Amino acid sequence: MFLIEKSDRLADKIHQIWVRAPHVAHHAKAGQFVISRIDEKGERIPLTISAVDGDSIRLIFMAIGKTTTHLSTLRGGDHIQDIAGPLGKPSEIKKYGTCVLVGGGVGTASLPIIARELRAAGNRVIGIVGSRNASFLILEDEMTGACDELHITTDDGSKGFHGFAADMLKQVMAEEEIDAVWIIGPAIMMKVTCEATRDAGIRTFVSLNPVMVDGTGMCGSCRVTVGGETKFACVDGPEFDAHQVDFNGLMLRMRTYQLEEKESLERFQEHQCACKGSGRHA
Ligand SMILES: Cc1cc2nc3c(=O)[nH]c(=O)nc-3n(C[C@H](O)[C@H](O)[C@H](O)COP(=O)(O)OP(=O)(O)OC[C@H]3O[C@@H](n4cnc5c(N)ncnc54)[C@H](O)[C@@H]3O)c2cc1C
Ligand code: FES
Repeated sequence: MFLIEKSDRLADKIHQIWVRAPHVAHHAKAGQFVISRIDEKGERIPLTISAVDGDSIRLIFMAIGKTTTHLSTLRGGDHIQDIAGPLGKPSEIKKYGTCVLVGGGVGTASLPIIARELRAAGNRVIGIVGSRNASFLILEDEMTGACDELHITTDDGSKGFHGFAADMLKQVMAEEEIDAVWIIGPAIMMKVTCEATRDAGIRTFVSLNPVMVDGTGMCGSCRVTVGGETKFACVDGPEFDAHQVDFNGLMLRMRTYQLEEKESLERFQEHQCACKGSGRHA
């Protein structure tokens, strides 16, 4: 069992938990993730290791379905049944020169740890944090500290630059020479944003988020097509060369269980309401 040391709400539907997981904390590198299972009957879900502090790791997640909604109800002192990791290949950290890190929504959670490691490797790091509107923005202060320069963008202009992260990336590229780019966010955002760097031939990484079950290359559920070859995101990634990824195939596969996911969330919410009504805990 893994102790949740504290939990907070960071923004609309976005939560963070600090979990005591010494093995993961001592071995985690930028870009890696864990597979967690709340209890014996729970679904296994992958979450990026967003920060490490001593024996603890931070997980930041958006409450979008049954498991993440359940996770958002847990508080400091509660326990999670399983945390397996660190999993996946770490980010390719080396000296590139000037790097841009682009985060979309909750994908921003992955960036500070990458930013710190890139800077430690001697890179200049420019951050771009984008979200639909100001209420979904996360980690602005932390990214300000982790990057040499930070730009905020919102789709509706409620904070920072009015527009998409891709527009800001183009602006940054017009102002200075960029050597490597990371784009982490929803699949559609990564698909669109990485077009900004394709013609310029800038090395661009994306972190893919297909459905994962075991996280160890055994089940095949996370298969993606990269450069015309089948890859398992859990062991071959999750970071890949953005310009080689078949995003349409990825997005199609991510919708496979939409109906079941909706039903599962509805059942969980009904159960929670019933528990509240009867004074019991869910
Ligand atoms: C390597 C990796 C790292 C991730 N890191 C984060 C993170 O740091 N923060 C965060 O908010 N989200 C992260 N995700 C996505 C997160 O795993 C899903 O949001 C979560 O599994 C949804 O579960 P649910 O039961 O709440 O929602 P559901 O209603 O079950 O699913 C909602 C959507 O989430 C995706 N999803 C569902 N089950 C899984 C699964 N087992 N594995 C992967 N995706 C699934 C599907 O696209 C689905 O349509 C990551 C995904 C991957 C692959
Ligand atoms: S999650 Fe099973 S092979 Fe990747």
